[in-house]
Amino acid sequence: MYICICHAVTDSTIRETVYHGASSFRELSFNTGCGTQCGSCVAHAREVMSEALAGLGVAASEEKLRVVSSR
Ligand code: FES
Repeated sequence: MYICICHAVTDSTIRETVYHGASSFRELSFNTGCGTQCGSCVAHAREVMSEALAGLGVAASEEKLRVVSSR
């Protein structure tokens, strides 16, 4: 399912990115572009990322999932 329409990022892509080491939303955005255009996907992307991190046994702190405003 597409999470980020602007950059065609799916939930699978988010999970794969987490499994390959992304542990913060910043890293996810850097690697996929997710959340860097209109921003409407950010809340849902955070949820998917949090679930993926939990699946790996990594606690998802608010700090790590916080989005830093535009670059
Ligand atoms: S839907 Fe993700 S930045 Fe627009």
